[in-house]
Amino acid sequence: MSTNIIASTATKARPLTAAEISEIEHEMELYPDKQAVGLEALKIVQKHQGWVSDESMLAISKFLDIPVADLESVATFFNLVYRQPVGKNVILFCNSVSCWIMGCDGLRSHINDQLGVDFGDTTEDEAFTFIPVPCLGDCDRAPVMMVGDDLHRNLTEEKIDQIVADYRNKE
Ligand code: FES
Repeated sequence: MSTNIIASTATKARPLTAAEISEIEHEMELYPDKQAVGLEALKIVQKHQGWVSDESMLAISKFLDIPVADLESVATFFNLVYRQPVGKNVILFCNSVSCWIMGCDGLRSHINDQLGVDFGDTTEDEAFTFIPVPCLGDCDRAPVMMVGDDLHRNLTEEKIDQIVADYRNKE
């Protein structure tokens, strides 16, 4: 599964919530034009909705008065805008060179075995979505992954099991 799918098919916008509008308007005060607010608006909607549906994309387009195609381009370029539903927790798993040298392939297999998901998949209970990402900028402590906003370093199979258990216990 790619997290980005180009071309919205929605014909009806989902009304933005009051909180989403308020936060987008706040961003509009910080940026010189509406076009520049596009990415921030996508991130705001994703924070509130978990992902950016076609209906949400259309709503942002109408609200900012910018073409859906422009927003789609931003979402495609910024590949952490989720254009499909994701699990409650998103595992962003670095598979760039330092993490690869330090054995991330084996850890990927471990996650695959433990959670029954590979890159692009969401667990059956919708607790986790597993997504590969390029370097997370902490190469000297590879292998590295993020879950939500938390960075986890020097990963081992045991650490991953503990991290997964901790997130499950938060549910
Ligand atoms: S290569 Fe994985 S954090 Fe840099």
